Amino acid sequence: MLIGVPKEIKNNEFRLGLIPSSVRELVANGHQVIVQHDAGIGIGIDDAAFEQVGAKIVQTAEEVFAKADMIIKVKEPQLQECRMLRSGQVLFTYLHLAPDPEQARLLEESGCIAIAYETVTNKMGGLPLLAPMSEVAGRMAIQAGATSLEITNKGSGILLGGVPGVAPAKVVVLGGGVVGTNSVRVAMGMGARVVVIDKSLERLNHLDLQFGSRIMTVYSTTDAIERHIATADLVVGAVLIPGGSAPRLVTRDMLKNMRHGSVMVDVSIDQGGCFETSKATTHQNPTYIVDGIVHYCVSNMPGAVPRTSTFALNNATLPFVLALANKGYKDALIHDPHLLNGLNVYKGKYTHKAVAEALNVSYTPAGSLLQ
Ligand SMILES: NC(=O)c1ccc[n+]([C@@H]2O[C@H](COP(=O)([O-])OP(=O)(O)OC[C@H]3O[C@@H](n4cnc5c(N)ncnc54)[C@H](O)[C@@H]3O)[C@@H](O)[C@H]2O)c1
Repeated sequence: MLIGVPKEIKNNEFRLGLIPSSVRELVANGHQVIVQHDAGIGIGIDDAAFEQVGAKIVQTAEEVFAKADMIIKVKEPQLQECRMLRSGQVLFTYLHLAPDPEQARLLEESGCIAIAYETVTNKMGGLPLLAPMSEVAGRMAIQAGATSLEITNKGSGILLGGVPGVAPAKVVVLGGGVVGTNSVRVAMGMGARVVVIDKSLERLNHLDLQFGSRIMTVYSTTDAIERHIATADLVVGAVLIPGGSAPRLVTRDMLKNMRHGSVMVDVSIDQGGCFETSKATTHQNPTYIVDGIVHYCVSNMPGAVPRTSTFALNNATLPFVLALANKGYKDALIHDPHLLNGLNVYKGKYTHKAVAEALNVSYTPAGSLLQ
């Protein structure tokens, strides 16, 4: 198979789909890989590193999209990339289609086979290709929150860990999954008081066993959220309904009970956000203020630490990339129900139920299409 890696073009995005060690595996398995010139330069991987492991460097994204049977990316294709996709071409990347009908329509029109990292599953019911970025974003959420709390960033001027004789900050984490657990770990490490709220008793039980009495676990109800938000210095939004839009758990009305300068980091923003007042921001302009509360809503947080993120992502995606390349997409999808869960759009049909529901379009089970 001919596999193509374009340079990412989203604002401040320096990650890339394949690192040289992944390319080496693909080449050893008999595949050809083309990489766009300078695709890895932002994280210190030059063209020579790809050439050494057998990749061919091409100058433009147009060339990558025109030649490759399968495109491996990181971020959802931007509009000009969507327009370059071809019928029958495999696209393997993050898509986050639920809040993005325009991208969905372009993928549908292209006739491509769009497999989303974020809906591929594993035996434990987890999302193995979302997990590495969630680990990064969860850890970063506390760093970003701590910085936003500084007075020069219009925060309330509170140090997360306090100092002897001065109470630490209260951090409320909504959603105790992968992002939430990593936020809890870093917030605890910085000495904050941590409350984690989840609607899954199993998750709360797990967190309780993991962190013991050093954190407080709370069952998610509107009442509990309202009460804990009111006294929080930092709120991290980390809920997920796989493939669907994030539930709006914090209303604008709830903000009026919070101290001015408190910070809300909405990590769920890539699925539309879990605060009513959230709107996506970029690394260049990460925060804005609503009713005195600092909002940080960067939709590609791991993009700020692209080297760590790219290596972490490749560790998780490589087995699936190899399966798609070695077996061909049809066999790979038919033989792996977890990879099949990643199939969002197949030659103009929406094949993921939650994605189709969120977009209000008709859903076609993938099984019938792949026969
Ligand atoms: N902004 C970014 O750069 C970035 C990076 C990585 C992940 N994310 C996003 O972060 C979000 C969380 O990802 P994750 O990997 O932690 O998911 P996850 O599935 O591991 O965890 C989500 C948790 O939310 C809980 N939840 C669902 N509904 C809830 C509710 N009403 N109240 C309380 N808890 C609820 C679930 O029980 C689960 O424990 C996703 O939207 C993901 O796309 C964003």
